Parts: sequence; structure tokens; C-alpha cells
Amino acid sequence: MKIKNICCIGAGYVGGPTMAVIAQKNPHINVTVVDINEERINQWNSDDLDKLPIYEPGLAHVVKEARGKNLFFSTNVKKAIINSEMIFISVNTPTKTSGKGKGFAADLKYVKLCAKQIADVANSDKIVVEKSTVPVRTSEKIKEILISNNKNVDFQILSNPEFLAEGTAMRDLQIPDRVIIGGDNTNKGKKAVKSLVEIYSSWVPIDNILTTNLWSSELSKLTANAFLAQRISSINSLSELCEETGADIEEVSKAIGMDSRIGSSFLKTSVGFGGSCFQKDILNLVYISRSIGLEKVANYWEQILIINKHQRDRFANKIYSLINKESLNKNICILGWAFKKDTNDTRESAAIYVASNLIKSNINLSIYDPKVNESQIFFDMNYIDGNDKKNKEHISVYNNPLDCIDKTNIIAILTEWDEFKDYEWKKIFDKMSKPAYIFDGRNILDRDKLESIGFNYIGLGR
Ligand code: NAD
Ligand code: UGA
Repeated sequence: MKIKNICCIGAGYVGGPTMAVIAQKNPHINVTVVDINEERINQWNSDDLDKLPIYEPGLAHVVKEARGKNLFFSTNVKKAIINSEMIFISVNTPTKTSGKGKGFAADLKYVKLCAKQIADVANSDKIVVEKSTVPVRTSEKIKEILISNNKNVDFQILSNPEFLAEGTAMRDLQIPDRVIIGGDNTNKGKKAVKSLVEIYSSWVPIDNILTTNLWSSELSKLTANAFLAQRISSINSLSELCEETGADIEEVSKAIGMDSRIGSSFLKTSVGFGGSCFQKDILNLVYISRSIGLEKVANYWEQILIINKHQRDRFANKIYSLINKESLNKNICILGWAFKKDTNDTRESAAIYVASNLIKSNINLSIYDPKVNESQIFFDMNYIDGNDKKNKEHISVYNNPLDCIDKTNIIAILTEWDEFKDYEWKKIFDKMSKPAYIFDGRNILDRDKLESIGFNYIGLGR
């Protein structure tokens, strides 16, 4: 099937950037991204490109190039489905908060609703592409919903998981390591796979487009995230061992990363990984394994999350213990709230958990992040502990890092924003109460330089 019109349901961190790149690279295809969230769609359509709903380096430029030509953002879900030969489902798949699998399984209600919507309005054959991250064999459920609700048209289901990382999404989309497309091994299935391969081959070398069966494609996505997160928890667990033994985690990380069999990526110790996906995808993997009786496999993967929580907790405890031991001001400056640099996304950010731990000990927090605003910070805090009154008493948010440090002895770096490295640290030191401490939860600052200014520097694993 020659694709002339694409619809993507879900205009979030994946749907928006992914479709912007597909549209940019395929000017002959009309791409419409739809969402039920009207405010989000209005932001995508905003003339002011600073008002796009997500911050991602390079995104505004691509949106500017394609929007209004062959890239459209709309709330008219029905119309976009009817007009398209190919429909991507790119909605959220959060961890279930109730019912069977609560706290572990992925909640597929949004995905299922999309399938139902597609079946309800489709009056011509459709290729439905699973872009959301889903448990293995979800494509079967999608197919069931489509077929049982509409017997008049043919539906082909493809799995095409997304591997972009926030902050580098545009580069990841434009030069992907690989694109995976899973489909049925039937004639119609193979034709559907070919249609999607053609779209990607506008810019991705054909050798980097891997075609597989549906379930391998689904499981590869969960596995990739679990492997990446596993490396971070491994290095984070060793950071604690380094602190006890006098080894330096930065040196250990470099030494093992130079082994080409291990490789150097994802070996940066941190206050804990965050983001909307690592935790939920591992919980999902744990759930799938446990629900089919693979208890030891489930326990193995679950350990990644146990170490991640431990790393966040022990970072907060270190700060709290120092305040008590040295009778310091109960005010801390927190630099960084996003779950990583170059994004405004705060979902599951380690900063939220560290802040919550500190507030429980009645510590006041002055917070600055270059891309996260005050209302998001209060939203995040209220979401995890529901204590709006206490959060308001203990948190102040600033637009400028220099305003953050009044009456503080301690600065905690929780996101690895590049701008933190470029600060005039002497000026900051002069304004702080003394003694002045820096807890570098990302090991990004120059210890020798800070110590020569007069700071006490506490990194991770060193
Ligand atoms: P998101 O929450 O940013 O966006 C999802 C959007 O879907 C929301 O705007 C929501 O309003 C919309 N939506 C939900 N149901 C809808 C419906 N029935 N009709 C129309 N719109 C609907 O989520 P995201 O970060 O873009 O993630 C989407 C999926 O991609 C998830 O499964 C996630 O695991 C996966 N993923 C995310 C990333 C990432 O970096 N964020 C990377 C790879 C894969
Ligand atoms: C991750 C994967 O890298 C993507 O391939 C995947 O598509 C995506 O999840 C997803 O499925 O959502 P993302 O979460 O956006 O991408 O960002 P990462 O760069 O993976 O960072 C995740 C977290 O790990 C961040 O908090 C980051 O600071 C932390 N991290 C990363 C470390 O602590 N150490 C590292 O060495 C690398």
C-alpha cells in the first residue's frame, strides 16, 4: 500500500518529535498528529516556537519547516483516522494504579481505547502501528479489538517501538542506531512492513532497518530499556562501594568502559535514573516474568529498581546527616529538577524523591532548573506525597540560581545541566553561608577548582 496520509494518535514526547521527522523526511506524505488534550495541540500550533509543549533541542526548527505544509496538529481524531492509510498509536502506557497488576503491569487502557476508536470509524483498510511501549503480545489484543469491532475493513498491525532518548531525540530520530519493524509473516503482513520500511528508508540506511516478528519487536523494546537501566544501577551500586573503599567510581567507570566488550555508554554514576520509561518498563518486565511463574527472572530485574531507590535515598540521607552533624542551616539549594539535561520533562526525576525525603526532615528547599517552572515542581511534589501545605511551607522556586543560595550552606546538583559547569562558582561561594558544601549528584563539577575556592565537595563514589 502506498502511504499518502499518516495519522498519529498521541502528541507527546514521542508522537510530536517522531512525526515531525517523518514529515520532514517525507514531504509527499501528509502527517496529522492528534490528541485529546486541546491545550497540548494549541501549543503545538503556536506561532511562538518557544511555546511548543516540549523542550527538545532542534525540534522547533523541524516543526517550523514542516508545519502547515505536510505536518498538522489537530484534536479531530476521527477525521484523521478516516483520512489515513497508516495510523500510529503513540499514547502513554503508564504503570497500572489499580486492578490486576497494580503497581507493576503497564496500563493499556489508552492503547485499547485508540484501537476501539480506529475500529469505530475506519471505512477503508488501515495499517495500525504500535509506537507506544507495550508488553509482549499486545499486538494480539489490539488486533482482537479491531477485528471484533469492525469486520468490513482489513487491519494490519505493526510493532515499531521508539528508542529516542529525551534531550537527544532529534539526533536519535535523524540518525537512529536501528529502526525495528515487527509484522505478521503473511502476504498482507509483509506488504504492511514494506510500506513502513519505505517511509523510514527516506533517510535511514536500509541495513539499519531491522524487520522481525511482532513479539520479538515488542520484547526488544522492553529489553533495551532494562539493559540500559541495569548498567546505571550497576555503576550506582559500585559508587557506594567506592565510597567505602577509597576507589574512585569515575576511574573505575573509565577503566571498564575502555573494554570494547563493555563499552563506555551508560556508565555515569548519578543520584538515580529517572524518566517516564525505565521504571515503568522494568516493572512491566518484572510483572510479565512473575505472572508466568519466572520468579527468579522477576527478582533479577526488580533489583535494578531497588538499587535506584537506594541511591536516591542514600543521597538525601548524606545531606541530612551532614546538616545534623555540623548543625548547619536547614536550607538547601537544589540545582536541577528535570530527570536529565536538555529536557523539561520531570517524570520520575530523582530530584522529586530527594526533595520529598529532605522535606520529611523539615529541610527548606530553594530550587532552580533552567527549563522547569514553579507550577510543575509543585505538581510533581504534590503528586507523590499529596501534602500541598507542607510543600508550600518548605519549597521556594527561583528563576535565577544566584537567588537560590541565600542562607544556605549546601548546594545539591540533581540534574547534569551544562550551564552548572559554567557558573562563576567563586561568586556563589561568597554569597553562601559558611562552611559551604556542594553535593554533586551527577559528578559534573571540577572538584579541585571548587576546593580551591573553599567549597567542601562531596561527589558520588569518590
Ligand atoms: P506522553 O504522555 O508525553 O504523550 C501521550 C499523549 O497521548 C498525551 O498527550 C495524551 O493526551 C495522548 N492520548 C492518550 N490517549 C489518547 C487518545 N485516546 N486519543 C488521543 N490522544 C490520546 O507520552 P510519551 O512520553 O510520548 O510516551 C508515549 C509512549 O511512547 C509510551 O508508551 C512510552 O513508554 C513510549 N516511549 C516514550 C519515550 C520518551 O522518551 N518519552 C521514548 C520511547 C518510547
Ligand atoms: C531512555 C532510553 O535511553 C531510550 O532509548 C528509550 O527510548 C527511552 O528511555 C524510553 O523508552 O522512554 P530517556 O529516559 O529519555 O531514554 O533518557 P536516558 O538518556 O536513557 O536517561 C534516563 C535516565 O538515566 C536519566 O535520569 C539519566 O540522567 C540517567 N542516566 C543515564 C544515568 O544516571 N547515567 C547514565 O550513564 C545514563
